[in-house]
Amino acid sequence: MQQPLQVRLIDLTVAFSRALDLVSPAVAAHHVHVGFIAARLAERLGLPDRDRCELLLASLMHDAGAVPLKAALEGLVFEQDMDSHSRAGAVMLGTCPRLAEAARLVRHHHAPWCHGRGEDGVPAIAHLIHLADRLDVQLRRGEDPARQFPRAMERLERGRSILFRPDALDALYDLTADRDFAAGLRAPECHLHTGAGRRLEGEVLDADGVISFSALFSLVIDSRSPFTATHSSGVAETARLLARWAGFDGPQGKALYVAGLLHDIGKLGVPLDILEKPGRLDDLEMARMRRHAEHSMDILASVPGFTQVATWGALHHERMDGSGYPYGLVADDLPLPARIVAVADVFTAIAEDRPYRGGMPPEAARAVLRDQARDNKLDGELVDLLLSRYEEMDDARRQAQERARHEFGLVRAALAHEPDDAACRESAA
Ligand SMILES: [Fe+2]
Ligand SMILES: [Fe+2]
Ligand SMILES: [Fe+2]
Repeated sequence: MQQPLQVRLIDLTVAFSRALDLVSPAVAAHHVHVGFIAARLAERLGLPDRDRCELLLASLMHDAGAVPLKAALEGLVFEQDMDSHSRAGAVMLGTCPRLAEAARLVRHHHAPWCHGRGEDGVPAIAHLIHLADRLDVQLRRGEDPARQFPRAMERLERGRSILFRPDALDALYDLTADRDFAAGLRAPECHLHTGAGRRLEGEVLDADGVISFSALFSLVIDSRSPFTATHSSGVAETARLLARWAGFDGPQGKALYVAGLLHDIGKLGVPLDILEKPGRLDDLEMARMRRHAEHSMDILASVPGFTQVATWGALHHERMDGSGYPYGLVADDLPLPARIVAVADVFTAIAEDRPYRGGMPPEAARAVLRDQARDNKLDGELVDLLLSRYEEMDDARRQAQERARHEFGLVRAALAHEPDDAACRESAA
């Protein structure tokens, strides 16, 4: 039976937040922590429901714009590039209409309070993300947060009225005096479905809403490295077209498109030096690279309503003869949509331009696909279908990747901006 794709906004946001947290092991679970702290601050300050909901969404994805920065890996981004990654994050989130307000908050999530004290176009609640973020980066994982609060608050106090909203800082003193807050910080994910999170549970995205949200996130995934830029858009588009040719369409066609957009979400957990290594990967590196498929499965399968998206997307490295990964499944285990994503992934990978090489010419690409079908790696019927309309497929891929490249241009331009809040930071130092 064909079920239309429907997912709760909060479930998707929390899953994407966990995916973002794969990038910076130096500050483990940072987005989930900041979401928890900001939500508690908003409650304490008695903010209206709408503000609390938008604040939670923005907090859970606030550093999306830092993913293209190499420094994100070491957590250095939290000390540098404050303005540029805020701009880039706003551009990314702004591509999804439902996240327009969250994008505005992300744009200003490091704005110092001394910038007009809330009267300069910076939304007053954006300052709560800043404060929550600055508390979280000081907390060492595995140690009791309550024992770390006094020293952390002492440092934050130095930024009162310059970096931080004074009433928010007062609210944070109240929170840090509360044992429940410290306990919540030990397992923040368990508390994301209370308060604003509970209110957001009522908001269900339809298939087009899920596509828009997933397209934004595919931009984040691909922005990690110029090596993979626009790859997900190419896979999604070619999978969609191949599915249509194979007679697989309707509501499930939309779920398949989402699977294409998100199939490599687990790559956010692969260290950049492996992702971009010019030579062959050694065994250990290869094992870490391959783990991205499991990460994709973990993240996607954690979203209620995403069973098909998870199965179809995360199995893209499985092969018909059982030689693929991560599970070594065989043809009988692989549903048609998963085979479609696998073909679309191989086709896009060989046909697309990469910074270190051009795309494979059509004749060579056709030969690779033919070989993979002959060796029972890829589904032979799907490969034949693709080969029978190769140029049409290649045009669709190119156009989709060009559209994504345009969006990357906007993200890169945002990252290139000079910081504009250096004066305030200096005055607080
Ligand atoms: Fe940030
Ligand atoms: Fe942050
Ligand atoms: Fe992959």
